[in-house]
Amino acid sequence: MSTPTQPLRIGPHTVQPPVVLAPMAGITNAPFRTLCREFSGGKGLFVSEMITTRALVERNEKTMQLVTFDPTEQPRSIQLYGVDPATVGKAVRMIAEEGLADHIDLNFGCPVPKVTRKGGGSALPYKRNLLRAILREAVSGAGDLPVTMKMRKGIDDDHITYLDAGRIAVEEGVTAIALHGRTAAQHYGGTADWDAIARLKEHVPEIPVLGNGDIWSAEDALRMVRETGCDGVVVGRGCLGRPWLFADLVAAFEGRDARAGGTDGGSRRPALREVADVMVRHARLLGEWIGDESKGVVDFRKHVAWYLKGFAVGSEMRKRLAVTSSLEELRAGLDELDLDQSWPAGADGPRGRTSGNNRVVLPDGWLKDPYDCAGVGEDAELDTSGG
Ligand SMILES: Cc1cc2nc3c(=O)[nH]c(=O)nc-3n(C[C@H](O)[C@H](O)[C@H](O)COP(=O)(O)O)c2cc1C
Repeated sequence: MSTPTQPLRIGPHTVQPPVVLAPMAGITNAPFRTLCREFSGGKGLFVSEMITTRALVERNEKTMQLVTFDPTEQPRSIQLYGVDPATVGKAVRMIAEEGLADHIDLNFGCPVPKVTRKGGGSALPYKRNLLRAILREAVSGAGDLPVTMKMRKGIDDDHITYLDAGRIAVEEGVTAIALHGRTAAQHYGGTADWDAIARLKEHVPEIPVLGNGDIWSAEDALRMVRETGCDGVVVGRGCLGRPWLFADLVAAFEGRDARAGGTDGGSRRPALREVADVMVRHARLLGEWIGDESKGVVDFRKHVAWYLKGFAVGSEMRKRLAVTSSLEELRAGLDELDLDQSWPAGADGPRGRTSGNNRVVLPDGWLKDPYDCAGVGEDAELDTSGG
């Protein structure tokens, strides 16, 4: 298999192979990024969970912890979410002046009603002038740091925004665009529209386009590049409970057939024993990052079902493992499982959120004029649940 694309360039950074860990709120913190990077051999780009710009400029304590990186992380990639051009500008300047990151991504994909109701998230690109103003502030405030954006196709099938948004991004000096091939109305339901990724690539040939949506395996990633001509792939839910997917992605893009085998990098799926070791390591890293083992294990609970998906583990045991509070308890529970189980077929394919087709809640009159200069209340920033 030959390498399907040129190296991906994000400003001064070369991302080779062109694989990107999607920002995921509550997931892609420093510990999870570390795990994924270990499996990828340090190759690829690993984006932080979304950071709200207002919380950053106010130096909210939790937010300041979210913008921490492992000393070996390079480039350090922060995703920002903001609705007010001035606040976004301030946040970006703060990152640039204080050297907090090497790359800034802007999130315009959040479909959560609490946010779109105020005109934020994936509702925002509909207001072309507001989008332009935010991008302009971000790019000018970032100085030498590259600014990228991540978005959805639009609000719904009748209000598609990605082509206009892509053009505006190019005009404002954005370095690359990631497109999740769904509308806000789709949430995570149905299948991602990869044709839209191909259309965006044709529409903005000046800058790299990254494709996002429904990559569950390394083969899906290669196929997305082949079918859309995109310059790189952004992988989200596929690596929930499967950080070794990054080993597969790197191997596939480098033309190797090997697929992750836990620790040995061989061409087999990890057995439950190896999965259990990764689980404990993930929980330990979270504890070290938070500075409290128990809090780390509690934060890890949300990952348990993803790691165990498809394995023969009884429901009682699953419940027990999802309420542990110490590494010892987690390890002891895992040791009670039949750890010789090999990777089950049921563990491949979709995982994480898959529901969709919700009506998008918007502010009154939002759709009347895509070009009016209305701003968005900063309370559209309160969301923490991502894109
Ligand atoms: C739990 C979760 C949290 C997410 N948080 C964010 C976020 O903070 N910022 C963002 O741009 N997208 C966020 N997303 C969207 C993903 O980055 C990605 O666009 C989406 O999951 C589609 O890609 P996938 O099919 O590979 O999962 C989130 C998705 C999930 C499932």
